[in-house]
Amino acid sequence: MIVLKSDREIKAMHESGKILAACHKEIAKMIVPGITTWEIEEFVDRFLKERGAKPEQKGYKGYEYATCASINEEICHGFPRKSPLKDGDIVTIDMVVNYNGALADSAWSYKVGNVSKETERLLEVTKESLYRAIEVSVPGNRIGDIGHAIQSYVEAEGFSVVRDFIGHGIGNVIHEDPQVPHYGLPHKGARIKEGMVFTIEPMVNVGTYKATRDPNGWTASTADGKYSAQYEHTIAIAKDGPLILTEQK
Ligand code: MF3
Ligand code: CO
Repeated sequence: MIVLKSDREIKAMHESGKILAACHKEIAKMIVPGITTWEIEEFVDRFLKERGAKPEQKGYKGYEYATCASINEEICHGFPRKSPLKDGDIVTIDMVVNYNGALADSAWSYKVGNVSKETERLLEVTKESLYRAIEVSVPGNRIGDIGHAIQSYVEAEGFSVVRDFIGHGIGNVIHEDPQVPHYGLPHKGARIKEGMVFTIEPMVNVGTYKATRDPNGWTASTADGKYSAQYEHTIAIAKDGPLILTEQK
């Protein structure tokens, strides 16, 4: 069941999203070779606490951290850890912020020092695919239009779209309807309506789209060990189009 949100609820989620966006902008300044994702985890914990917000992922289905920190071939749900990031790595930091009970969810991929041309392109294409998908998220279009916008662009660029993890409605809990695949057919799926709030979070791989799961039960990696990137926004559908609740201004 898709729960439509009132203007007041969307406003509250936007406040949460602004804190999240500000946090990502600080993380962007911190990421240099030698830093650990554990330091980023501690920074996020402190940043949110200072603003009266809470890390919603901590304790969610037994997940123990404020952030997911997925490095290189890790697709998503990597654990923050104490090993230093190296020149040429990429890292995706994903978090859900709870401010006054309203949630917002956003992941961002960062490069560490200098990365290869191919990695640079992976990051560009992944981010561009998110914004292309947001552009078609207008009332009257369908959920399939979102996946199609991402898949057709990403595959034309020679990369692949992860199938095992998808975007989702978000409200009082992190995951609710609708499901938002990052692949699919135009004019298919649920109609996009004013008041919907959901994430779009394409995970894009250099090689195969296939994923393996770590014995830790959480972390997914690419089956071929090649790099994976991700950009995620939470968006609200207004009468005249999408409002990005987690935009980094
Ligand atoms: N932020 C993630 C998403 O985009 C949710 C992570 S679930 C957690 O769907 F348990 F890892 F926190
Ligand atoms: Co997320």
